[in-house]
Amino acid sequence: MEAVVFEQFRTLIYDASGIALQANKEALVAARVAKRMRRLGIDRYETYLDHVTADRSGEELVHLLDAISTNVTSFFRESTHFDLLAKLVPQWAAERGGKLRFWSAACSSGEEPYTLAMVLDRALEGRAVDWKILATDISTRVLEKAAAGVYEPARMGGITPDLRARYFSSCGGRDERLYQVVPELRQRVLFRRINLATPPFPFKNQLDAVFCRNVMIYFDAATRGRLVDEIARHLRPGGYLFVGHAESLTGLPTALRTVQPSVYCHGR
Ligand SMILES: C[S@@+](CC[C@H](N)C(=O)[O-])C[C@H]1O[C@@H](n2cnc3c(N)ncnc32)[C@H](O)[C@@H]1O
Repeated sequence: MEAVVFEQFRTLIYDASGIALQANKEALVAARVAKRMRRLGIDRYETYLDHVTADRSGEELVHLLDAISTNVTSFFRESTHFDLLAKLVPQWAAERGGKLRFWSAACSSGEEPYTLAMVLDRALEGRAVDWKILATDISTRVLEKAAAGVYEPARMGGITPDLRARYFSSCGGRDERLYQVVPELRQRVLFRRINLATPPFPFKNQLDAVFCRNVMIYFDAATRGRLVDEIARHLRPGGYLFVGHAESLTGLPTALRTVQPSVYCHGR
């Protein structure tokens, strides 16, 4: 890919998603875009750029972002966040009239919101609590997978036999057994496409906790700042923000208070 073409992709992707690709990502972008081009039978990067920009529906741009985004995730990833949340939610439920709302803000293929759902189900067992999770991502490809809630055995790391028996049913794959999240848990999670780089977000309810993990690393400081402001606006007083273990809000002007590394609280 020529440098000038890479620059055009970089600008297009940044404007559409806030993903700030470093100059050394040229080979990665070239390989991922080439994969999409093969599906369309296009063999020149310039032709594909024209194709994306000419598509007024914006659908090809969604495919481009699908191809570019890194979707690595797993069940119980950075599990200390879930341990902490499990301790907090019984008291929140008592204080907040039995209604709790959560947001998994870059949910990828669903492992994060379903982990959250398993943790909440267990922590709130036996209490009359109306809890729900909004799970969003920019990639329609991962959102489809997440909504289906079907996982290969290789993706089930972090799920103990106990959790598997309780929250998954096995369903037949052609060559191997697959596991699907049970309907009672899937019903708690609403999947939607939201671009984190384009606040404001039209949420009705105040949020008790937001998981926005391992996505801000792809944004520049301006995009991160706008996003954190918007999250703070939607958190209820005493609500929590969890970011990835390798991320932090250091350097961003935010009113959120640090509870411990990668965990922040609104007020109080
Ligand atoms: C590395 S995954 C993190 C998944 C999960 N939060 C975790 O920590 O395991 C990053 C996700 O962010 C999504 N993403 C990237 N840019 C985004 C944007 N502008 N708006 C919403 N999601 C975005 C990607 O599609 C990808 O699924």
